[in-house]
Amino acid sequence: MQNPTKILKKINYFWRRSQVPKQVPIQISTIDKLIIFLICIVISIISSYEILLVPTLVVSDVFSWLLTFSEVLFTCGFLILISRKENPNINSRQILLILSLLLIVQMIKNIFGLGLSPLSLIVPPALIISQGMGTVTALAWVSIASLSWPDSITNINSNLLLITLLCACVVSVLGGRIRSRAQLLQLSIFVPTGALISQWLLIRNDSNYLVDNQEFFTSNGKIFSDSLLLAIIMLITILFIPIFESIFGLLTKARLLELADKEKPLIRRLSIEAPGTFEHTLLICGLAEEATRMIGGDIDLIKTGSLYHDVGKLHAPNWFIENQDGTKNPHDEIDDPLKSAKVLQAHVDEGLKFARKNRLPTPIANFIPEHQGTLKMGYFLNKAEEKKLNFNESDFRYKGPIPQSKETAILMLADGCEAALRAMDINASDYEALETISKIVNTRQVDGQLNDSNLSRGEIFLIKKSFLNVWKRIRHRRIQYPTIKNNTFS
Ligand SMILES: [Fe+2]
Ligand SMILES: [Fe+2]
Repeated sequence: MQNPTKILKKINYFWRRSQVPKQVPIQISTIDKLIIFLICIVISIISSYEILLVPTLVVSDVFSWLLTFSEVLFTCGFLILISRKENPNINSRQILLILSLLLIVQMIKNIFGLGLSPLSLIVPPALIISQGMGTVTALAWVSIASLSWPDSITNINSNLLLITLLCACVVSVLGGRIRSRAQLLQLSIFVPTGALISQWLLIRNDSNYLVDNQEFFTSNGKIFSDSLLLAIIMLITILFIPIFESIFGLLTKARLLELADKEKPLIRRLSIEAPGTFEHTLLICGLAEEATRMIGGDIDLIKTGSLYHDVGKLHAPNWFIENQDGTKNPHDEIDDPLKSAKVLQAHVDEGLKFARKNRLPTPIANFIPEHQGTLKMGYFLNKAEEKKLNFNESDFRYKGPIPQSKETAILMLADGCEAALRAMDINASDYEALETISKIVNTRQVDGQLNDSNLSRGEIFLIKKSFLNVWKRIRHRRIQYPTIKNNTFS
């Protein structure tokens, strides 16, 4: 029989090991916090001021206004909290976008009252938010925008509100997953069609909306015009999404896939001017993608981030081993480890300049410095030690920052393992390959490079396993098949 304290300690140990560390959201400046707070106050006032517009104001009215005001203010805070939980990298501009959309919707509700359909008011913003900030944030926004109606519109048709809520939920869920503009267009046709059918089924008997079924399309038929208006506004929203992407730094799936196109000028330049780096990039994409799939990360993000991680090498391709043909090495010619270290650091600095010039979104640009973190440039550090030069260890470390997300951490590990796996003997066993991978991963872990990445131990284990799987695939491709004359089976 084991000691109960030992059992408790064991349970506590396994519990802590099973917990994935939480990512800390990025800091927002005080001025931005103030602006966000002021917008929340304005939204709360707009949503509640009508309660006070009565001829004779009594205490209960003030109390009811105070209650509505606090309720809306609280829901705004809740919305910000959810958006930051879902996207720890969300910046103040994006929070302002979410709140501004809510503010606009609440203002329109006050101005137009019952004259405007809730469908066209709530569904299109849900599409923008789900595309840029994710499904959960969009759902939270939809619930707040759908439930908080000014006093003058309290007699809104409950069936119509239900249909609006359903359509907005469908758009929020699908919008967060959609990977192409074509699918977005399909959504803008199917959702209004669904809304039209549901309205026809649920509201057609409602005298407020359709008095006579025969006048379905010709009368002041709100059902048809509602859905048509929704389709038009959704199409306009889709047209404007690229503008929202560039103004608010939104990174939609469609934008990620567009950036991952290998015909993009910067990637084409990489393949022509630095073919070795391009090959290295493609192999890393394979490693990183497999590992990200294994831990359930953002595959589209890592695929695009991997493509651009070493674009900085374009500033001096022949200074990097993968682009040298073995005849001359510029590092040997200058014979100065400190200068060589500066050239290596320059591939990060120049990469960031390329990112700015090509307007790469921040989450993609983050892969450039974070894939190197503050890693040691071991080869040149050893050379400097051999030459007994006067230097600091920091002269031979990249400037960082260390990986701040799971995806950039995976890229750092893939970057480290790629050369070692490529150089491995074709006859090496799986055990030997796993040992090589583990050694590289552990070195980075011990060096503290993964401290901010939120990777759990279990995830690191899965990453190692997935790198091994990719290596097995590469080895299989390199094995020469015996070809027998006149035997051309495949
Ligand atoms: Fe690099
Ligand atoms: Fe690299």
